[in-house]
Amino acid sequence: MAEAAYTVLARKYRPGRFGDLIGQPHVVGALSNALRTGRVAQAFLFTGSRGTGKTSSARILAAALNCLARKDDDIEPCGKCPSCLDVARGEDLDVIEMDAASNSRVDDIRERLESVETRPARGRYRIFIIDEVHMLSTSAFNALLKTIEEPPPHVKFILATTNPEKIPETILSRCQRYDFRRVTLADIVQRMQEICSRESLAPTEEVLRAVAEIAEGGMRDALGRLDQLVAFAGTKPTVDDAERVFGLVSRGRLLDLLEALTAGDAAAAIRFAEEVFDSGKDVAEVLGALIGLSRLLMLTAAAGGDTKGLDVTADELPRLQRVAGKYGLAGLVYLSELLSDCRQRVRRTAFPRVMVETTLVKLALLGNLQPLETLLARLDEAADAPISAPTRTNLTENSDVKRAAVEARQSSPMTDRSPRAGVTDVSHEAAQEQEAKRVPTVSEREAIDALKKKFGAR
Ligand SMILES: Nc1ncnc2c1ncn2[C@@H]1O[C@H](COP(=O)(O)OP(=O)(O)O)[C@@H](O)[C@H]1O
Ligand SMILES: [Mg+2]
Ligand SMILES: [Zn+2]
Repeated sequence: MAEAAYTVLARKYRPGRFGDLIGQPHVVGALSNALRTGRVAQAFLFTGSRGTGKTSSARILAAALNCLARKDDDIEPCGKCPSCLDVARGEDLDVIEMDAASNSRVDDIRERLESVETRPARGRYRIFIIDEVHMLSTSAFNALLKTIEEPPPHVKFILATTNPEKIPETILSRCQRYDFRRVTLADIVQRMQEICSRESLAPTEEVLRAVAEIAEGGMRDALGRLDQLVAFAGTKPTVDDAERVFGLVSRGRLLDLLEALTAGDAAAAIRFAEEVFDSGKDVAEVLGALIGLSRLLMLTAAAGGDTKGLDVTADELPRLQRVAGKYGLAGLVYLSELLSDCRQRVRRTAFPRVMVETTLVKLALLGNLQPLETLLARLDEAADAPISAPTRTNLTENSDVKRAAVEARQSSPMTDRSPRAGVTDVSHEAAQEQEAKRVPTVSEREAIDALKKKFGAR
């Protein structure tokens, strides 16, 4: 049956050449140099978070080193010679791959290393790939160290790990180290687009962005999520499907909310909170996504027109710039702080919904008092700072905006004034009691009053 033959995307699209490896140009560049000049270290260590290409690169490097057809000035394994084919199948006699996660004992490593003195059967080298090497036991590391200190000239080691800090210094100092980076969102989206077109899948770019965002820089995670989404929703998954499968709120909808807040739309704020709570989403996670987005908006605002360094896709940029412009840099600082504060406290309060509503409505109220800079200038006055309060018109100066932001931070009623701040270990009842006793801060009360006016007291 077709189902039985299905190979998960992450496996089907494992890079077989350096040219297919995404987001690691520094690694590819350095390895290419080594291969071209023939100055190849005896031991390599590939580090980096999961799903960034470490294992794939170890296999590509091993294939390249032993490829029977590779020319000296080329770096790619040919992929067709008997050696390359066997390596790709994991059946090559000269490439010994070992997963330290399931073979962590000293006997496991001794058994594998028994053959180090043996000449390679066909290729130039005997290559030992030890994956998740940080899992080795102390005695296993010692056994490895003996060999790695003085390996026969025909032996190469390629170690890979997500936790380099767990590897003994003695081993580290023998290895040439390569740090794999998290893959950027834009690169993940582009790679998924290529794969989708080959697989006749048709998610929109917005859907792929949502998938890429949860992958947090891991290409394998991204492809795994894509598999999951397609299994649930078929070949044309929508943003709604992604929201349902992953329990997230898409960036598009978060931007809708943030934009509504700048227009003083308190009803939108309440509706958003209602949706989040009614759909059973993890509130702290949604707030985390909002915080991530306000950071991105802050970077967008700070970048001005120079958007090269921003990890966004071209499609998304104009909208981010528009919303960032509505808040202004100072407004975004305040937005981030309010949301972070809310997120810190939401897990501890007995009334998370009220807290989220209050925060969002407060933001909507700020939106009503546009532009935000004006309000921040007022906070500036209230703090009775020696600096003369800037007026609305001259606040566009960068230094003024920054100063206003700093002042706002210092005088923000939400910043750590709560008697709950710092309390981590209280029982639920005690928490409820404390929460009930907590006196709302001035601006919380303002927000609550405004709420009552708009919706009638409940
Ligand atoms: N840099 C990358 N470029 C392209 N695909 C990648 C990359 N990193 C990971 N992948 C995808 O994820 C899968 C697992 O990658 P792998 O090399 O095993 O990651 P790691 O060993 O770093 O956890 C690959 O088969 C491939 O589909
Ligand atoms: Mg791996
Ligand atoms: Zn080959």
